[in-house]
Parts: sequence; C-alpha cells; structure tokens
Amino acid sequence: MREGQNSVIHRSDYQEPAFWIDSVDLCFDLDPAKTRVLNKMKMRRNPHVVPQALRLDGEELNLSRVLVNGQGTSFKMEDNQLVLENLPAGNDVFELEIFTTCAPAKNTKLSGLYTSGDSFYTQCEAEGFRRITYFLDRPDVMASYTVLLRADKSKYPVLLSNGNLVEQGTLDDGRHFAKWVDPFKKPSYLFALVAGQLVAREQRITSRAGKEHLLQVYVRPGDLDKTEHAMNSLMASVAWDEARFGLSLDLERFMIVATSDFNMGAMENKGLNIFNSKYVLANQATATDTDFGNIESVVGHEYFHNWTGNRITCRDWFQLSLKEGLTVFRDQEFSMDLASEASARAVKRIEDVRVLRTAQFPEDAGPMAHPIRPDQYLEINNFYTVTVYEKGAEVVRMQQTMVASGPSDPLGREGFRKGMDLYFQRHDGSAVTCDDFTQAIADANPDSKLAQLLPQFKRWYSQAGTPRVKAVGSFDGASGTYSLTLSQSCAPTPGQAVKEPFVIPISLGLISADGSEVASSMHVLTQESETLTFTGLQAEPVPSILRGFSAPVILDFAYTDEQLLALLEHDTDPFNRWEAGQRLALNRMMAFISQDALAVADMKLDARYIEAMRSVLRHPKLDAAFKELALTLPSETYVAEQLDVVDPQRIHAVREALRAQLATALHADWEWAFEAHHENGAYKPDSLSSGRRALTGLALAMLCIAARTSGDTVWPGKALQRFKDAGNMTDRFNALAALVTSGSDLAAQALQRFHAMFKDEALVIDKWFALQAGATDRGGNILPIVKQLMTHPDFSMRNPNRARSVIFSYCSANPGAFHRADAAGYVFWSDKVIELDAINPQVAARLARALDRWKKLAEPMRSAAREAIARVAAKPDLSNDTREVVTRALSED
Ligand code: BES
Ligand code: ZN
Repeated sequence: MREGQNSVIHRSDYQEPAFWIDSVDLCFDLDPAKTRVLNKMKMRRNPHVVPQALRLDGEELNLSRVLVNGQGTSFKMEDNQLVLENLPAGNDVFELEIFTTCAPAKNTKLSGLYTSGDSFYTQCEAEGFRRITYFLDRPDVMASYTVLLRADKSKYPVLLSNGNLVEQGTLDDGRHFAKWVDPFKKPSYLFALVAGQLVAREQRITSRAGKEHLLQVYVRPGDLDKTEHAMNSLMASVAWDEARFGLSLDLERFMIVATSDFNMGAMENKGLNIFNSKYVLANQATATDTDFGNIESVVGHEYFHNWTGNRITCRDWFQLSLKEGLTVFRDQEFSMDLASEASARAVKRIEDVRVLRTAQFPEDAGPMAHPIRPDQYLEINNFYTVTVYEKGAEVVRMQQTMVASGPSDPLGREGFRKGMDLYFQRHDGSAVTCDDFTQAIADANPDSKLAQLLPQFKRWYSQAGTPRVKAVGSFDGASGTYSLTLSQSCAPTPGQAVKEPFVIPISLGLISADGSEVASSMHVLTQESETLTFTGLQAEPVPSILRGFSAPVILDFAYTDEQLLALLEHDTDPFNRWEAGQRLALNRMMAFISQDALAVADMKLDARYIEAMRSVLRHPKLDAAFKELALTLPSETYVAEQLDVVDPQRIHAVREALRAQLATALHADWEWAFEAHHENGAYKPDSLSSGRRALTGLALAMLCIAARTSGDTVWPGKALQRFKDAGNMTDRFNALAALVTSGSDLAAQALQRFHAMFKDEALVIDKWFALQAGATDRGGNILPIVKQLMTHPDFSMRNPNRARSVIFSYCSANPGAFHRADAAGYVFWSDKVIELDAINPQVAARLARALDRWKKLAEPMRSAAREAIARVAAKPDLSNDTREVVTRALSED
C-alpha cells in the first residue's frame, strides 16, 4: 500500500459506530521479528445504525485467520480495512477472532507495537492500535480488555499491560506469561503493553479515601537513581487531584514506564503510562531545573488524564481539546499550586504565556491555523498542536474565570469545581464532546457570565485566529473621568474569512501617578466595541489591561515609555509588570529593525531603558526567577510575529546587539547578581533556588557576552571554572552555554570535556547536540556545525530525541542561523524532512512545520523557502502527515 493516499475527514460527518465491542481478549506471543496476536472480541450491532458490513481498521498487519463464532467466514480487504459482510443478523452478541502477525523490530514509526533497545513498547494514540490488530480504532468504542502476554523469560522478565495482574507463570522453552485485566472500559488508544528487562522504584500510598495503591516507575537497570523525582511528582499529583478536584486514583496499581524511543512526551494509557525518558529520568548531576519542572508537569498531566481523558474520553478526534486543553489547564494549575508563593505562581504563568505567544500565536496566524476544535483533518497526528493544547487550556481557564461569583470566589475556582463535579456526574464512563463539557460548567453555575453568554463564548471552539483587542484611553480632567474604549477584531484564517465577536474576559486595573491602584475590575467584552468609564479620578491613570493574561488575545495600546515605566515599577499584577518590561524592549527592537539604513553598531539603547532594567535587577523585593524573565529580551520568534515582513537575520542581529549593550551597561549589576545569588547547601529543584540559579546563569552569560566586546578574559575563565566545579547540571550547563553563546575561545574545550563526562547519558548528550545546533550564528557558521554533528558516531536519525536535538534545534529554534540568504538552510531542511518521512512520518511532519511562516519572509528567503517546500511536496509517496503540512503551507488560501 502506498503511503498517505487517504482523504480528508470532516467533523460534521460523525456517525455512531455500526458495531460495539463489549470485550477484547488479546493474546500476544512477543517476538521482535514476528509477534503473533490473537484478538477475540465480543461484538454486537449498534441498534441505532442501519445494518451494514463491519469495517475494521488495520495497518501493516499480516492476516492469517478470521473466525466468527468459531467458524471460518468470508472477508475482503478494502484500503486499510478488513470488511466482513456476512455477520449474523439481529442484535445478539457474536464472537470474532482475528489472528495476525506484525514486526515490532521493523516499526520505525514508533506507532503501534515497537522495540526500543531490547524491550517492547506500544503507542496507540491516536490511531496506533490498528497497527497491532484489526479493530474499530476510534475513541467512542469502549471495551473491557483482558491481555495475555507470552515471551522469553530471560529476555523479557517484566510483562506489563493495563489494569491488574491476575495471573503469571512459566511456560515451556524458557518462556513465561502474565495475564492482565483492566477493570475499566476504555477506547483502544489507551491500550498499552511493555515487555523487557526493567526495574521499578515502588511506593505504597494510602489515599485520602483510605484506599491502598502501589505506584511504580519502571526504567532500565542502572537508571533507578534517576526516578525519585518522578515518583515524588506522581505522589504529589495523586494528592493534588484529590484535594483540588475530589478525584481519587481508581486503580490498585499505577505504573509509569520510561523509554528512550518515543515520538511525543508521554502517554496516559490506563494504569500504564509510557513516557519519553526525558520526562522521567533526573538527578542533580544530569538534569537541569527546567527538566525537573517539566517532569513534574508531565507526570501530573498524564496522571490527570486518568479522569479527564480516560474516565471521560473523546467521542471523536475533533474533540481532542476536551481532554488535552482541560488536562493542560489542570497540569498548569498543579504546578502553580505546588509553587505556593505568589511570586512563583506568577513566574509559572509568565512561562506558560510565553509558550502560547511564541508558538501558538504564530500557528493561529499561519497556514495550519485551526480552531481548538478543528473541522477537518487529513492526519490526526498533525492536530496535537499548541492550539489544541495551550489555547485549549486558555479557553478552559476563561471558563473558570467566568464562573467567578464575587468576593467569595474571585477566581472562579469554586464555581469551576462545581462544574467539574457535574461533568463527571453526567458523563463518567462515556465518550463525549466539547459541547458536553462547556454545558456542564455553565449548568453548574446558572447565574454566571459563562451561562449567560454560552453560545457566543463557544465561538472560541469554532473560530481560529488570535483576536486583537485595541484599547484607547482618554481622560477628561474637568469631570475626573477616564474612558477606555475596547474594540476587538480577528484576522481571517484559512477557510474562515469572517469572524464573529468573541467573549473576552479582560482583567483591568488603573494605576495613579503616585503608583497606587485606583480601580480594578473584570470586564467581559462581547461587542465589537465597548467603552468603560471610571469616575472620581484626580489625574490620568495608567491602565493595566489584560492582567494575568486573562484571555488569549493580542492587546494593542499605545503605551508611552512613561506609562510602561510606571507599570513596571508599580503594577500590583506581576504578569503585567513583566509585560511592561517586554513592551519597553520590544518597542526599541522594532524601532531599530524598521530603520533599514541603521547599522547595528549605531543602535544605542537609551539610558532610561537601561536604568529601568537596572532597577529591576537590583530590586530588593522582586525574586530572582522574575528578574531573570524580566531581563530576558523578547525572543526572535516573538519579534518576528510583530512584523509584516521578516528578515530573521536582522532580528537576530538587533537582539544580539541590544543584549550586548545590556551586558556591558549593567556589568557591575550582573557581577553583583552573580555573586549575590549563589546557592550553598544541598541541591533542591524548588522554585526559590531554581530562580536563583536561573538568574546567576543569565548573569554569567551576560558577563561572558560583555567580555567578548571588552576583550576581558576573567569572566570566561570564571565560567570555565564554574563549568568544571558545578555541583549540579543546571549550573554546569548554564556555564557551558555562557561560553558557547558568547563565542568564547574556551567553548571548544568545555564542549569536549562535557561530552567525555556524559558520554553514557543519552539525555545529556541530547543537550550537548542541541546547544551546538542552537548556538548563536556567526557569519553562517552553524549550518556546517550541524552537518558535522550529524556525522558524529552518537548521532542517529532513528531516535526522535536525538534527531530533534540536532535538526529541530537548528531548523525550528535557531532562526538567525536557519534563514540564510543562500537558501542552504532550506535545502538542508527539505532533505531532512524527506529522509525522516521515510522513517517516522510523525516526526517528519513536525519538522515540516518549521517553514509554516514562509510567506512573511523577506526576499530572497521567501522564494527560496517556497521552492524548498515545493520540493518536499513534489516527492511521490509522501506520508499523509507530511503531505498535509506542506500542502497547506503552499495553499493560496
Ligand atoms: N495524549 C498525549 C500523548 C500523545 C500525543 C499521543 C500525540 C499521541 C499523539 C499526552 O497526554 C500528552 O499530551 N503529552 C504531551 C505532554 C503534555 C505534558 C502536554 C506530549 O507528549 O507532548
Ligand atoms: Zn495530554
């Protein structure tokens, strides 16, 4: 069968399945070259659907036998479906047995059953189960699973599947077996099995409800010393879901398994979560604070899916945000609640918004724009996007905000909890839609703004694109009245020329000249334009709009420098305080970029901005993590989004120039910051100490950058020393990165030493590759380095983490190096997309998205990029995954 010849699926075409599967009895004889799978299903016709043939999905399977109620039967193959036309009439249950084989060792797509090292793993979401056996591989078909695993006992001593282990024992020829029964019905995408030589960290816990559970984290022997943090994160997740949502663990045993070959981050299979090892393994010597934080949130995320995703699942894949948006919202809240101090909560919020604005806003403005509930797809894997996830989480967050009921529940937490309770009461055990979710939240809060505005609010689910809110203020001194006019608009997106107004909750404050807050309120904008008035004011206030980033919109307000400086100094909302600093920087960057004739050497930062940054850095009350965020300039990607025509190299040059000035002008302050935030004592990845490490890391990078200009050798020397002496990976890696980023002569020896130190730590070697492929470009030097890295014996195209660490770090995360006037970056990209597509289409399609925004590029990049995309598109036998991305990129829509 040729790759990728399927057609587009539409949301409006949803139909119930013609058959239900009540139970599945699976028997596996595991062998890397040829695994045998016997699948016995109890099925019946769905009485709501006209009688028709049974069509089971299957991919890359060898079929050897089909029996109906124990008898042979006729069947045919159509595309990738097994079609049975002569099934018993009537609504009685019948038994269907299907015997197939597959080849896990040859499965480079890492979807279905595959081997990694010497072990077996599965990945079934979204449509991988059909690569294991013929099935109704769709989420609204929920069945009870019994799984018998048989394999060689010495090679595969551990045999795991979903639910509870009910039987195990030995067989002939050195083989053994294990039988697992999952007490809950589930869709096929939540099926999992793992077999191999693994060891587990175990923890017994008693829940609030008084039940005993066994928690296990399975890893390869030798990695046990890196599982403590994952286990702690899992225990914290269990406790948090009970405390905040009253949701308890419903299984006796909950397992996490790490694998080093994984397409995504992690997967929520019922009772048997499978993780990319990157999101499990950590100790202070090998993982950074960021890694520790990611592990906490990914472990939480997959655990929280047990209720929001598994107990209540999606009716069809168009509803993906039902589980993903909601679960991202839950993992964000989990991390914030664990952070406890208000400042750490704000830091987490700023980080989440930064992801949304640098990744989701561009998606919403590009060729792949889609609503959080898409209307069509060619390949569902392409719709596990920042829009479905992060914007989806913002849409859930707005629902929480809009069920707030006054001073007793200002944030809406209690109202939202009531809504979640009702959602479970109504839908536990079923496959539902986004409409069902919003309806439950609204119905539980009948007097809320959400309930009043529900039909209009739901436009967030159906309309793509990022709304823009333009705010204009005017002050009438005579009456002491300030008016703020808020207008909304949203640019067309592919297939959606006209947008209706959204419901936009806008958290507002007014700051007076002396810095005190004179008003604060929540306004819900529903019209195209509305004017708010505030009376009794002595002087014109500074408006603080969209506090806490209360809605996923772009806010336009023509702030003056004075106003931004006032907000930076006085705003009670930490998000907008950070935002004011970013706007000050952005305005300057934009001004320099737009003056075509201005040479980089002549771009001079004004004293006012520098002084503002100095006072943030030296501020006695602000904490280190916040300072690190505030002193980091807006990213090149974020700046690019603010421009109509993008010259990535110019953006890069401007950002580098300003960074060098901040480094030099604040030299003494960076020295102070570096010395004053030293951590003594045992390593702990908590928010306070990781914030201090982040700030010293930035300070060291700035001091090395300043040294490049001044010729100073002291700070690069200190960085090298710190690199050598560091007691943890965060400090060590920051020191290494400071040398690499600043282009220090000492970088090469440090890189070499780093590789030698960690040659057996795959996750650390990924960092080593990523740092070099993502380094600051100097005269086009990065592409040759990337090509060189790909000849390194440690490089592999087949391991997704390794491929990402080099190729994605260059193509997707290093715009200044990738967008070359000679088009060599794009030629490299198209070669790698094509090469990867033959190995692993999911990974290839993600890489294909690196050129999503090609239409904005300045010439000659624009034409060169189009040519590179067309070159990929012209390749016959492209996967659906990659074909969908490049076709959309080239479309004129
Ligand atoms: N259900 C997904 C994993 C998944 C994604 C399976 C795409 C199949 C296709 C899982 O819950 C998830 O969302 N994982 C994220 C990490 C999470 C913390 C946002 C991932 O893998 O990136
Ligand atoms: Zn998820």
